[in-house]
Amino acid sequence: MKEDLERIRTEALAALDTYDSEADVEQLRVRLLGRKGELTSLVRRLREVEPNERPTVGAHLNQIKDELEQRISQALDALRRGERERRVAAERIDVTQPGSHRIPGHLHPLTQTMEDIVDTFVGMGFEVADGPDIEDEYHNFTALNIPRDHPARDMQDTFFVTDEHVLRTHTSPVQIRVMESRRPPLRVVVPGAAYRIDSDNTHSPMFHQVEGFMVDERVTFGDLKGVLSEAMQRLFGRDTRVRFRASYFPFTEPSAEVDIGCVLCAGCDQQCRMCKGSGWLEILGAGLIDPNVFEAVGYDPEAVSGFAFGMGLERITMLRYQINDIRLFYANDVRFLRQF
Ligand code: PHE
Repeated sequence: MKEDLERIRTEALAALDTYDSEADVEQLRVRLLGRKGELTSLVRRLREVEPNERPTVGAHLNQIKDELEQRISQALDALRRGERERRVAAERIDVTQPGSHRIPGHLHPLTQTMEDIVDTFVGMGFEVADGPDIEDEYHNFTALNIPRDHPARDMQDTFFVTDEHVLRTHTSPVQIRVMESRRPPLRVVVPGAAYRIDSDNTHSPMFHQVEGFMVDERVTFGDLKGVLSEAMQRLFGRDTRVRFRASYFPFTEPSAEVDIGCVLCAGCDQQCRMCKGSGWLEILGAGLIDPNVFEAVGYDPEAVSGFAFGMGLERITMLRYQINDIRLFYANDVRFLRQF
């Protein structure tokens, strides 16, 4: 019995040294100390021992049982602790590690400028409208008082889709479409694409305009000047100077071209590459809506009056950010786009 005890003890301790899973240790515990375990059955065999030796053998048995119980629970503890440490290490987050930087997307500079312009006019009581990019000649030209023989209708400048349909050469046909379907008072802005056969540093065959117009009783050139001066100052800054120069458009009379004081040199640099020393930048076309246009949409030119204006979005954005090549807007080069 004594030999059995020593053997069981040595084997158990050796096994505990090699085990590295809780399940193995648990199995060992059952094998030794379970109801049919080796040590448990030795306790039962104590009856076979000589009565005078029983106390010594019994004490020895208990001592070894205690020892093994203790070693087993220590081993289980150690294994559980190790397991926990491994899990914590695996789940550890290194808060000092530099993050992976995601560059958020943003609106295209043309879209940003368009929204700024539209917001400016919406803030002054205008609503937004749009119309088709493919227009009939009537809306793009005829109704806007551009006669058949006008040079603006030249095939060299205009993309014809069919004999009677064009890619609209400006956003002005939307004036006609809105007025045809509604009655004054009207205050409308129209952002949109326009197309002309023209391509260089400052011209693109597809470009954008923001059109605007107001029709009511007794709208005057003073209203036009007031609204556009205010809008230009909201867009380019409070101390922006605004100048109206007499000009000509078939669909407005009188007509004007509107300049703002040069945003780069403010008129102080004779060599300024932006205004070429003039101190002024041409920014839009405008005028009082021609009576012929009102007649085309069935309005009585004696009863209503109005103004209209149109500006090139690319040009304004180029002035705003001092961009010298219009093609940069369409190249989709992120090195360019990220600057805005
Ligand atoms: N449609 C003109 C152009 O494309 C701009 C304009 C609009 C001028 C409205 C006067 C009034 O150049």
